[in-house]
Amino acid sequence: MNSNKKRSLKHFVYVTLARRILIATVLLSLLVSLIVHNIASDNIYEHVLIMAHDRVETLRARTNEYLENGGTTLHQAVYQAIDALSSVHYNKSIGDFVFYQISTLNDGVLIDKYDSNYPYIDNVKQYVVDTASDHSLEDTTVLKEIVQLDDGSYVHLIMPLYDKTGSLIGNLRTMFLLTQSTVDTLQSRAYMAVFYALLIVMLTTAILYPVIINLTRKLANFSIDLLDSNIETLKVLGSAIAKRDSDTNAHNYRVTIIATRLAEKVNLPDRQIESLIKGAFLHDVGKIGIPDKILLKPGKLSESEFAVMKTHVEKGLEIISRSAWLANGKDVVGGHHEKYDGSGYPEGLESGKIPMNARIFAISDVFDALISKRPYKEAFSFEETMQILLEKSGTHFDPQLVSQFEAIAPELYQELHGKNDEALRKILNTIIQKYFSTGIDTLSYG
Ligand SMILES: [Fe+2]
Repeated sequence: MNSNKKRSLKHFVYVTLARRILIATVLLSLLVSLIVHNIASDNIYEHVLIMAHDRVETLRARTNEYLENGGTTLHQAVYQAIDALSSVHYNKSIGDFVFYQISTLNDGVLIDKYDSNYPYIDNVKQYVVDTASDHSLEDTTVLKEIVQLDDGSYVHLIMPLYDKTGSLIGNLRTMFLLTQSTVDTLQSRAYMAVFYALLIVMLTTAILYPVIINLTRKLANFSIDLLDSNIETLKVLGSAIAKRDSDTNAHNYRVTIIATRLAEKVNLPDRQIESLIKGAFLHDVGKIGIPDKILLKPGKLSESEFAVMKTHVEKGLEIISRSAWLANGKDVVGGHHEKYDGSGYPEGLESGKIPMNARIFAISDVFDALISKRPYKEAFSFEETMQILLEKSGTHFDPQLVSQFEAIAPELYQELHGKNDEALRKILNTIIQKYFSTGIDTLSYG
């Protein structure tokens, strides 16, 4: 594994993963906070509601007591019960009843009793009037709700009243004013619950993060090892055919570099350049299957010999099809002898029907062949090379690509001319690095 891949991996593991986990944690925290806050509020309000409800139950029981003792009307009985309750000690630090109302099916509102000392009693009265029609006297469900008025928070409670025989006679409605300290306590308890929920989420993340990092690192290392092995295969296969054909890797290195530069010039997507690199490196791999007497023949090939030589294209396709990783180099391996005017082989494809990678490679391959010294020819000068390429623009080569190539050719010639295998390998490694380690960043995230 080299340093660039390590940096790329580090970026993926520590930055990408950390960022995603942070986002997930924040979202989860918000969700948990919301749920916990609601549950905490509900629990505390429920406590207050039960207290208010108990008190109303007591009031109802006392009223019945007075009624059973005889000699009093319901109206008087309730007033006596309320007065009696006022003297009963209970924890007023939580809050206090500021309003009772008893309504019967027969008489409508029978009793309205307000705490006239309460300075905001008019607000309460107004609320009671405004909501009077919301809950009918026939409705036997118990209403328990928290009401927020301008001056404070109240528990609004409505419960049905029954006579001794169990028949519905009306309902009892109360407003219980919560003290500010109760409201503060409710809020602070809710906040504390949220705080603990957040703490739990954060701690869980802190515990899981190293585990996830460790597993991901192992997975990424494994993927990088696999990628390294695949790249080794690419190099070994390319090198094997170079050994048979020309005793040098330099041609393979140079055509791959040239093709990549042209692809970058025409803004091919990275994924396509990756396929181009594989194809460029292995373009003549099928020559492994060509007999030496033809492959290494110094003179011109006979027609039948050339027919055999042409089969290196299909042999190459067959070889790379054995590897899922190499298979996408097929455009170049299969199309590198096609010509723009349709006079190439093996398919005789024309212009745009020839894959883009193969059209790019064809220019690169011929450019390199011309500028290089071969056993049977001297190297052409840069000017001569470009003149030949331009002459074949539109027949052998895609004219648009030739014109793009013209723009980068002088610089490429300067960069590659006279470079030995080692220097070229360094340039190629940089290219491989760029296009073959990018997948690591997207590992698991697609
Ligand atoms: Fe070839």
